[in-house]
Amino acid sequence: METLGPVSETGAERRQLDVELGERRYPIFIGRNLLSDPDCYRPYIAGERVMIVSNETVAPLYLDAVRRGLDGFEINQVILPDGECYKDLTTLNRIFDALLERRCGRDVTLIALGGGVVGDMAGFAAACYQRGVAFIQVPTTLLAQVDSSVGGKTGVNHPAGKNMIGAFHQPRAVIADTATLETLPDRELSAGLAEVVKYGLIGDSPFFDWLEDRVPALCDRDATALAAAIARSCQNKARIVAADERESGQRALLNLGHSFGHAIEAGMGYGTWLHGEAVGVGLVMAAQLSERLGWLEPDASARILDLVTRCGLPTVPPNSMPSERWLELMAVDKKVQRGRLRLVLLKGIGNALLTADVDVEQLRATLEGPEAHGD
Ligand code: NAD
Ligand code: GLY
Repeated sequence: METLGPVSETGAERRQLDVELGERRYPIFIGRNLLSDPDCYRPYIAGERVMIVSNETVAPLYLDAVRRGLDGFEINQVILPDGECYKDLTTLNRIFDALLERRCGRDVTLIALGGGVVGDMAGFAAACYQRGVAFIQVPTTLLAQVDSSVGGKTGVNHPAGKNMIGAFHQPRAVIADTATLETLPDRELSAGLAEVVKYGLIGDSPFFDWLEDRVPALCDRDATALAAAIARSCQNKARIVAADERESGQRALLNLGHSFGHAIEAGMGYGTWLHGEAVGVGLVMAAQLSERLGWLEPDASARILDLVTRCGLPTVPPNSMPSERWLELMAVDKKVQRGRLRLVLLKGIGNALLTADVDVEQLRATLEGPEAHGD
């Protein structure tokens, strides 16, 4: 794939990118104060009724603004409990209950207002309700704005494995209002940066270089830097999704660090570690394993550790999981093929590959690394 060139910090006010999926092509709007802009919604709403899906933290902050943007439509809403531990079939059912109570038909449009948990659940409900209805993503966390709202992966967790029940279902539009990030807790901002760093690592070394320079501005919530990082991440994701919507090839690279991260999330109990925190450690572990295998220069591995640290993310895994438990959890991964673990590893910064060629003893050594800490 063609390289993207230098990162642009201009045009921070409002940008539009498109996910090129033929007839299902859709826009990603990125900018400030988009929540109440009817032009972001109107063309993408199927009928006259909408069901806003949000949670008890985000709704008090942003539901009214979204409602203003939907003037003229019949607005319904369902407010879910907040937390990764609620990303399950029981909570999903509350969305179906609300849709059925309101007698919503196939022309209803779901609007997901919140972070990745709300987005994944509302998207999955839209994929299933009456065999599929329209939905719009309105992501309000950095993680959701750079990653989860784009690409149509929807679903819920199972106690045995992360995101194990789900569907591919693309949104009609993604509306990323960067002003919402002003209320995001610091820990959540850092969690989002893990997915941002991932894009630099998998195929965009100029972005990684830019991040090394601009991470202090990102942590300080500099609006120009944040808008640039969101746009560049979405540009990377949109290209990959357009080329491999259903993950038969290169889309798997978006899972760099996630085999380790998902094992931490499931093993520690959903919500104990934030998804982005688990991915941050996963990026470091993927780099360390790649280095052990002789694929990644120690200098590159050190740069990765340094950037993840500067993002305010944890860099060592919990030591409360013995390696057998790790391997058991990692075996429940969507990349496992014919019982064989496949991992996304690195041959350089901006050069990731999916491989089954992993020596289990080297993997075990990485899992048991002297760096593991207690909690
Ligand atoms: P989240 O949805 O739990 O949101 C994090 C916290 O921030 C929550 O407490 C939420 O209520 C709160 N919040 C959201 N917006 C806020 C705002 N503007 N101000 C204040 N608080 C706000 O977590 P997340 O990190 O957004 O998403 C993680 C989820 O996304 C995981 O379940 C992960 O599996 C999923 N994910 C999906 C994809 C995909 O492609 N579908 C990709 C990456 C991650
Ligand atoms: N976050 C992984 C994907 O969208 O494919």
